[in-house]
Amino acid sequence: MEIRSQLKQYQARVDQHLQRCIDTRGIDPELQSAMTYALFNGGKRVRPALVYMVCDMLGGNTEQADSAAAAIECIHSYSLVHDDLPAMDDDDLRRGKPTCHIAYDEATAILAGDALQCLAFELISEDPLLSAETRIDLIRQLSHASGYRGMVAGQSFDLRHVGKPLDLEQLEAMHRHKTGALLSCAISMGARCSGEISAVQQQALNQYAAAIGLAFQVQDDILDIEGEAAVIGKPQGSDLEQNKPTYPALLGLDGAKLKLKQLHQQAITALAPFAEAADELKALADFIVQRDH
Ligand code: IPE
Ligand code: IPE
Ligand code: MG
Ligand code: MG
Ligand code: MG
Repeated sequence: MEIRSQLKQYQARVDQHLQRCIDTRGIDPELQSAMTYALFNGGKRVRPALVYMVCDMLGGNTEQADSAAAAIECIHSYSLVHDDLPAMDDDDLRRGKPTCHIAYDEATAILAGDALQCLAFELISEDPLLSAETRIDLIRQLSHASGYRGMVAGQSFDLRHVGKPLDLEQLEAMHRHKTGALLSCAISMGARCSGEISAVQQQALNQYAAAIGLAFQVQDDILDIEGEAAVIGKPQGSDLEQNKPTYPALLGLDGAKLKLKQLHQQAITALAPFAEAADELKALADFIVQRDH
């Protein structure tokens, strides 16, 4: 199946699961409305797709990946709501619509993000299809990837270095935390949901994750320059305007594109041990470097 149709299927699946979770918890209506707004606005759902793809590839049941897929999207959506706040990137467009703090207000957006973050851990902790051991391991992985060791560390580094020169090593470390950590986590959670995996498989997936995790943010930086706001669904030129540390800022646009190509190749090479079982993951790597939004 073509990768875009495949992504649509996973998207529909995680959306259904998320909708059910949000609708059945008796959340305060105003808060629920802002959480729903932040979650259901045309996100690509790349992280849930990775959870599902890896779980399926390793022979797990798709149902066992539902709560991890929904949880990682809750974390991702919360991170975007906070990333767009005036105190952070101060952007007014996200996924083609006004950002959460514009559509609601700043306090509501902050709280919707907070609530989405908690919901993520709640979903995993209450999943009756997973053993207690698996649930704790998934919570451990997700808390590491999203917090001070992962995404939040990258965001903090990003904001402290606005307008300051970075070397390549620092830039890469920032990207690996900001974006790579959650993408890698999606992959390792998908593996965990499927059951046990071998050391060779684990290493191959780690290498794939490292390559696409970085590639994803390199392409995001390129799209900030070359994309069109109507297509990327967020303001174009936001990084330049705010003097953000990015790959194109450091390597130039051509240098960033070359880096992207190398990372794509590394991702494909890493999947060799899985042979054709990894075709979906290969197609996803293609999608990540070719995506226009
Ligand atoms: C955007 O993530 C922010 C980054 C981490 C680069 P996505 O490009 O996955 O955004 P959505 O979820 O599809 O809107
Ligand atoms: C932030 O990166 C990624 C997050 C951890 C939320 P960006 O600030 O580049 O993301 P966009 O471009 O606003 O989506
Ligand atoms: Mg940012
Ligand atoms: Mg931003
Ligand atoms: Mg960006």
